[in-house]
Amino acid sequence: MSAHKEGDPTTLKRLYGRSQGKKLRAGQQELVDTLLPRIAVPEEGPITAERLFGHDCPLHFEIGFGGGEHMAYRADLLPDHGFIGAEPFINGVAQALTHIDEGKLGNVRVHNGDALQVLERIPDGALTMLYLLHPDPWPKAKHAKRRMMNDGPVQMIADKLKPGGEFRFGTDHPVYVRHALMVMQRFTDKFEWQVTGPESFQNRPSGWPETRYEHKARTTYGHEVWYFRFRRR
Ligand SMILES: C[S@@+](CC[C@H](N)C(=O)[O-])C[C@H]1O[C@@H](n2cnc3c(N)ncnc32)[C@H](O)[C@@H]1O
Repeated sequence: MSAHKEGDPTTLKRLYGRSQGKKLRAGQQELVDTLLPRIAVPEEGPITAERLFGHDCPLHFEIGFGGGEHMAYRADLLPDHGFIGAEPFINGVAQALTHIDEGKLGNVRVHNGDALQVLERIPDGALTMLYLLHPDPWPKAKHAKRRMMNDGPVQMIADKLKPGGEFRFGTDHPVYVRHALMVMQRFTDKFEWQVTGPESFQNRPSGWPETRYEHKARTTYGHEVWYFRFRRR
């Protein structure tokens, strides 16, 4: 199993943004108090489908799910698959819990905290899919090591995906996209970019719903959005 150590660029503290925004509404607080403890990822020990869901099933992992709309959509689409999402921002977790509750999604487990701390406890080769959608850009060059797309996290993602598994990455950030492709260029022995031409990354692939962040990027800021699918060799 791979592990990230204190002081290396994958260390979680340095990847975090804020973890609490405005006060939760009463209904959201109720879900945090009652639903979250029931579907929280265990704090310690290996994380397997059997442990989380009571049976073997394909496992999906979403890093930084924001408001959880993509995770909830995918979990609803694939009810026989298990979904794990990690998000340090409690307001996002509360929104995700609302989707999980309203959709009666029994196949989702949530971690309110750093994704890498959970990912490292998943056995190597256990994941079918991993999603990294609009990671915090950390646009200044001096903060580049804080980006989730760096050698440490990408190595861990490679370790956790099974052969034929898929790593989906989306961004609207021109600096980040260049950085990410440079990083992925160092992993061509592990990942095969699913690309046939510009349409492969300019057009939204099917089964990849728009997140709230992405919607705002397009409509409010007029940004282009790029989509990447990397197949684990
Ligand atoms: C720009 S937002 C995008 C949210 C969502 N993926 C979307 O597309 O709407 C980036 C998210 O990554 C989360 N994040 C930052 N560091 C993280 C970490 N170490 N583990 C998990 N999530 C993280 C942030 O809290 C934030 O919600």
